[in-house]
Amino acid sequence: MGDGAFDSGAVLAALARYPPLPARGARVAVVGGFVRDIWLGRDPRELDLVVEGDAAALARTLGGEVVIHEPFGTATATGAGWRVDVAMARSERYPAPGALPQVAPATIEHDLARRDFTVNAIAVTLVGGELLAADGALDDLSRGALSVLHERSFVDDPTRLLRLARYAERLGFAVEPRTASLAARASVATLSGARLGGELRLALTEPDPVAVLGRLADKLPLAIDRSLAEDALALAPPESDRAMLLLGVMSSEEAWLANLELTTREHEVAIACLRAGVPAEVTPSALWRAWRGVPIEAVAVAGARGGGDAARRWIDDLRHVRLEIGGDELIAAGISEGPQIGRRLERTLAAKLDGELTGGREAELAYALRGES
Ligand code: CTP
Repeated sequence: MGDGAFDSGAVLAALARYPPLPARGARVAVVGGFVRDIWLGRDPRELDLVVEGDAAALARTLGGEVVIHEPFGTATATGAGWRVDVAMARSERYPAPGALPQVAPATIEHDLARRDFTVNAIAVTLVGGELLAADGALDDLSRGALSVLHERSFVDDPTRLLRLARYAERLGFAVEPRTASLAARASVATLSGARLGGELRLALTEPDPVAVLGRLADKLPLAIDRSLAEDALALAPPESDRAMLLLGVMSSEEAWLANLELTTREHEVAIACLRAGVPAEVTPSALWRAWRGVPIEAVAVAGARGGGDAARRWIDDLRHVRLEIGGDELIAAGISEGPQIGRRLERTLAAKLDGELTGGREAELAYALRGES
């Protein structure tokens, strides 16, 4: 932890693993979380640069693949093992609460003043290593406090309510009282579903997403249950979408989830987790009827809601069971094409799952060829 004395050299030294950054031209600074994290002795998650000029031009000098976001004056350069986000130093005007801002070129000092929290409103220039910081930024960094820079911060940009929860948990910082009271009065209602969904994705990939959502329970339709969430995650296999599992298991409204503009798959997983319950019957074939086609995350949630043994069995074993025969074998044996092929295979798989069929391929074929019951 820093003690109030700021070491700009440490910030510049940490840039060594990036491509060479420009040493002349428009004023450029490292900004935000990178500076904050170096100061705190943490590993920065990403590099943000701010430039008093053309962000796309600066991004192009870095090499790598460049993506430009014209309306916001930002660009991203990505290479092997690195990624740099570049933003034009700007002032922002919010045409309406929760809307995306209109931006205009500004100095880096002005740019810092439009940011979310003082601990992120801090920059070090590439040339000269000059520290630029909003009022109170270094104090807040030393005492571990989250403070907004102005009264309208959460009204202009309610995504900051979610950012506040993320930083409070990840950094273990306290929310300064005036900021806490502004946050208590603010609402996410003016945010589009897409923006809220995007911020929730970020919240759900934090080290302790349950704690982050717990801080948002008075702003969002959530029912936080840590042990339920942890039990479900413990059951979920590695390929699970852990973020959508958590979102679904802690959401209390389907309509709200539907409005978040998640991808089709994300939405399907989250809704299935919200709805997941323990099946009435737990024989292997009954589990197959209940859970085939159901996202595996929802099975893990059903397990956490009381169906633990059944869910474990399904996840570890039953979901992988397949017949050795297929429709072609039945057709070759004289069964005419049509829905009965599927019914016969299904019936045979149910028998196999329930342990009524041993003997592999021959036994499966004989069972499938028996008259339809
Ligand atoms: N920012 C902001 N308001 C937002 C989003 C971002 O003021 N709604 C500013 C903050 O100054 C932040 C910077 O933009 O530091 C970059 O945003 P982001 O990349 O999301 O955060 P980091 O600073 O990189 O911090 P971290 O990745 O650790 O969350």
